[in-house]
Amino acid sequence: MPEPYTSNHSTPSEDLRILGKTEIRIAPVGLGCWPIAGMTSLDVNDQDSLRTLRAAIDMGINMLDTAYGYGANGESDALIRAAIAGQREKVVIASKAGMHWKPDGNRCFDASPSRVVQECEESLLRLGVDEIDLFYLHAVDPKVPIQDSAGAFAALLEQGKIRSVGVSNVTVEQLNSFSDVCDVAAVQPPYNMLQRGIEKDLVPFCIERRISVINYWPLMKGLLAGKIRRGHTFAPEDKRLSYEVFQGAKFERAQQLLDCLDDVAKDVGKTLAQVVVNWTIHQPGITATLCGAKRDWQIAETAGAMGWRLPDAQMNRIENLLGR
Ligand SMILES: NC(=O)c1ccc[n+]([C@@H]2O[C@H](COP(=O)([O-])OP(=O)(O)OC[C@H]3O[C@@H](n4cnc5c(N)ncnc54)[C@H](OP(=O)(O)O)[C@@H]3O)[C@@H](O)[C@H]2O)c1
Repeated sequence: MPEPYTSNHSTPSEDLRILGKTEIRIAPVGLGCWPIAGMTSLDVNDQDSLRTLRAAIDMGINMLDTAYGYGANGESDALIRAAIAGQREKVVIASKAGMHWKPDGNRCFDASPSRVVQECEESLLRLGVDEIDLFYLHAVDPKVPIQDSAGAFAALLEQGKIRSVGVSNVTVEQLNSFSDVCDVAAVQPPYNMLQRGIEKDLVPFCIERRISVINYWPLMKGLLAGKIRRGHTFAPEDKRLSYEVFQGAKFERAQQLLDCLDDVAKDVGKTLAQVVVNWTIHQPGITATLCGAKRDWQIAETAGAMGWRLPDAQMNRIENLLGR
């Protein structure tokens, strides 16, 4: 068991990056608050979650990524509210609307304009803030034309309830349609060493339009932190086994990659997770990456991916391993 985090780290020196075309500046590693919402991660409790949030801020991570649907009743937002008391100015709060949980436990995508506005207003109250710095459409609602959802975000921007707008889980076409109605500062797609589909179209489009790409799953739910190796036994309630990358040939391919990345980590004197996250934040178009964590030591480790850069020789070695 790693040592608990102790608050004596200096803030990484890496410069903050510009969010889209806004005045907002973000560190290249953000804290993903899905695990602390307690819906899928095992062994989560409020004390550890608060320590995780505080360690993130202490380590120079300024973006906290939450959503209306992170927790059945806004559990992630309540923890953020407690963690930022007295230090609101240090953090950039990113949240999302358009996905909620029904009383029967099923997920519901509703991005109708009235629902987007309602979720924003409830999130402001839950978070105890006057404005949300970055507010995303969580996912496209097939029942609602995307331009109608975009209209609600434009109105919230106009009213000063949010400072900038993002869209998550969208294609280039959907992003284009949304942008016709409302300026977009950031997109939030899945992206990691094993899932690089966005490099073909979404990333070049965003670079051209000066839209930030803030990806999720850099560690692929802990797989690329090296915690799930061959022979790992998943607890029956661990949902990760349902993802293809944890099964069969894809899992073995990931293990072979990890075997080689272990050598890279040894050579540069960093941990595996730090190498993976450092690679991610230095890919073209990536403004920041969202690392989930449920323990302070986890986010302290991934925050250590900031403030340095893998040497070109190691970047090339990784590129060869990934077989581009
Ligand atoms: N827009 C969207 O639709 C969407 C979808 C998914 C995620 N997201 C965002 O992206 C964030 C990241 O995704 P995620 O949290 O699902 O997954 P993730 O960041 O890929 O993985 C998080 C998990 O990795 C493990 N981990 C983290 N740091 C570690 C370390 N240093 N050493 C060992 N294990 C470590 C922990 O697993 P254990 O729990 O086993 O300890 C943690 O719960 C989310 O929190 C959320 O903010 C957005």
